[in-house]
Amino acid sequence: MTHNQVGEAFRHIRKLTDFRPAIALVLGSGLGSFANNVSARYAIDSAAIPNYPVSSVQGHAGKIIFGTIEESGRTSIPLLLFQGRVHYYESGQIDRVVFSIELAHKLGAKTLIVTNAAGGINSNFQAGQLMLIKDCLNLAMKYPLTASATQTTKRTSVGFDSKLQDLIRDSARDLQISLQEGTYCWLHGPSYETAAEIKMLRTLGVDAVGMSTVPEIVKARSLGMNVAGISLISNMATGLSLTKLSHEEVTETADKTQLSFSTLMKEIILRIR
Ligand code: HPA
Repeated sequence: MTHNQVGEAFRHIRKLTDFRPAIALVLGSGLGSFANNVSARYAIDSAAIPNYPVSSVQGHAGKIIFGTIEESGRTSIPLLLFQGRVHYYESGQIDRVVFSIELAHKLGAKTLIVTNAAGGINSNFQAGQLMLIKDCLNLAMKYPLTASATQTTKRTSVGFDSKLQDLIRDSARDLQISLQEGTYCWLHGPSYETAAEIKMLRTLGVDAVGMSTVPEIVKARSLGMNVAGISLISNMATGLSLTKLSHEEVTETADKTQLSFSTLMKEIILRIR
């Protein structure tokens, strides 16, 4: 996966639409139906885009949608929405994981909001709550950047836009939607963790764990984008709840939490200028 491959995908899209997104939103496991809130100007099946990495994971629908959020006379700035993502564990190729981020940047997006489903580790959390990602722990130890001197990107690590974080906190407070905050840890997956691993992560100060998002944040930061991340705590992590953890539980909780997730996300997008 090279810059040329992203370029080819970009040119394909530009032939179909001249829509210039200002914000890109990546919808994680079970959150894809947020797309129903978008007044879509254009939707493309990602499988039809040259070189676009298609996800094999259930719950990742794989469409990219250009549009706006419209509500009670308010209209958002132009939005590009990715329904689903590819995970590092699917291919072991980090460039595939950040393809959509490079594409969003090339299409003009200056702001990125990433979302995911994650296992809760902080004992104050409950399944079904939302968490603003304040920092990340990269225990997959993979980075989507190269050391090439010719490359134009900056070698940043995670860093979040504090104005955007405040906008998210204010939106949640005004809507009375409970929003936790914490550190998200990326593990390779695809298996869920052992109880001992979760104990270790808790000792390390991790609040929620998942299998995505961190490389996307690193890539977007290196491209100079403003970034924020929100996790849906779809389950309490291994050893912290009596129910057996499964992908079905993850998508079921995401379904139940759709309403508060969608309400908050709509408000966030409407407030970004
Ligand atoms: N662990 C890792 N990834 C996850 C989890 C979990 O408990 N829940 C949703 N994604």
